[in-house]
Amino acid sequence: MMPGHIGFGLNDIDISSQLTRNIKLQAPFVSSPMDTVTEHTMAIQMALQGGIGIIHSNMSPEEQADQVRTVKKFKNGFITDPICLSPDNTAEDVFKTKAKRGFSSFPITEGGKMGGKLLGIISNRDTSFIEDPTAKISVFMTPRDALVVAQDGISLQEANDVLKISKKGKLPVVNEQDELVALIARTDLQKQRDNPLASKESVNKQLLVGASIGTRPEDRDRARLLVEAGVDVIVVDSSQGDSIYQLDIILDVIGGNCVTPSQAYHLIQAGADGLRVGMGIGSICTTQEVCAVGRAQASAVYHVAKFARKHGIPIIADGGVKSTGHITKALCLGAGCVMMGSMLAGTDESPGEYFYQDGVRLKRYRGMGSLEAMNKGSEKRYVWDDTTTAVKVAQGVSGAVQDKGTLRRYVPYLMQGVRHGLQDAGCKSVKEAQERLYSDKLRFEIRSPAAQAEGGVHGLHSFQKRLY
Ligand code: XMP
Repeated sequence: MMPGHIGFGLNDIDISSQLTRNIKLQAPFVSSPMDTVTEHTMAIQMALQGGIGIIHSNMSPEEQADQVRTVKKFKNGFITDPICLSPDNTAEDVFKTKAKRGFSSFPITEGGKMGGKLLGIISNRDTSFIEDPTAKISVFMTPRDALVVAQDGISLQEANDVLKISKKGKLPVVNEQDELVALIARTDLQKQRDNPLASKESVNKQLLVGASIGTRPEDRDRARLLVEAGVDVIVVDSSQGDSIYQLDIILDVIGGNCVTPSQAYHLIQAGADGLRVGMGIGSICTTQEVCAVGRAQASAVYHVAKFARKHGIPIIADGGVKSTGHITKALCLGAGCVMMGSMLAGTDESPGEYFYQDGVRLKRYRGMGSLEAMNKGSEKRYVWDDTTTAVKVAQGVSGAVQDKGTLRRYVPYLMQGVRHGLQDAGCKSVKEAQERLYSDKLRFEIRSPAAQAEGGVHGLHSFQKRLY
């Protein structure tokens, strides 16, 4: 991309952009609906940072709807799904839960369920001197009448004041029936930061969340459950979106994937509010190798975005993003947002546990068209009808990616990288970059393989690459 004239500071750059016709994000980042990338923890953190997460569908419709509900219930600083125990549980249950979960305080409720009547609380202070593992919690818990509690509706600031005055570590929040609705932890409050960019809907101020569905008739029921759970956007997940299978189930959704204006045309005619662009270019994809179909991502983004813009439909550049430079390029080629898999896998918020290999901390990352993921149910993205399911053809691989730490630091790094890119190109916002693109003021040049080699790190014996 040719540099432009810089007449403004980094902080003046606006990277907000459209996800769909109706949803604008402060950070143009979307986490991919993949089972090693987006479940509720990822979706919550993406939304807090100004982006959005799309919950994958490689689970039952009920589980997926529960994931959506967890994101919608999230209130900064409030734990809305604390682990509860019942007064009939034993000291041994407490020790086991402590060891498994890594924390030591548990509300005690009727039935041991969230939403049950609050009966007490257990903390280290209650369990330190217990010698009999069979002792019932009811005997040694701090009972309800000795607890400081807050009423539902309390603000985070008020809760903070209560904890300060009472010098307690935990504050249970109850409703008028004295049922537990949330728990506030002092340690969490200390970690709380404002998230001024958070993606929220305007009425209930809940975080925005998306979810993917497949293209089979039964996916209509999945969509209904997701809508009931409060999902804000549905992504119809199919590697080749221009098919009769997709067109007749489109709701108010993001359609895809597509890489040509004619595919985009069919999806827009069917009512898509946003388009996902990219085929066979993801880091775990083998579609181009197996099916010989796909398109270079920069060309796909440029041509589809230019076409969709005429219909007022934003596009998401999906896959192949390896750096902040790639994100900047996608936005400057017309994308409203970028969707990432491998960039966001291997963060604290992605599903799965870290493990070590050759001294490097890794997390698993796999294509939804890999045999491993398809065996768990994701073949619906790649297999068109039931007569073909006897032979599965993998269109993806599975592997691992390096640990990138928490999104709380990683997303601000991505945002700052994009701001630097826009600044160098002389554009004060994503919108301006796209206006300049379409008026031929923002210029791209094709790089030869030699120029690409020159553009990377070269000539060093060894080097260390730290991102931030
Ligand atoms: P990145 O490069 O961000 O790509 O890791 C993520 C995107 O790749 C797509 N995807 C696949 N494509 N075979 C494919 O051909 C697969 O197994 C596969 N799994 C995911 C998807 O669009 C995702 O957002």
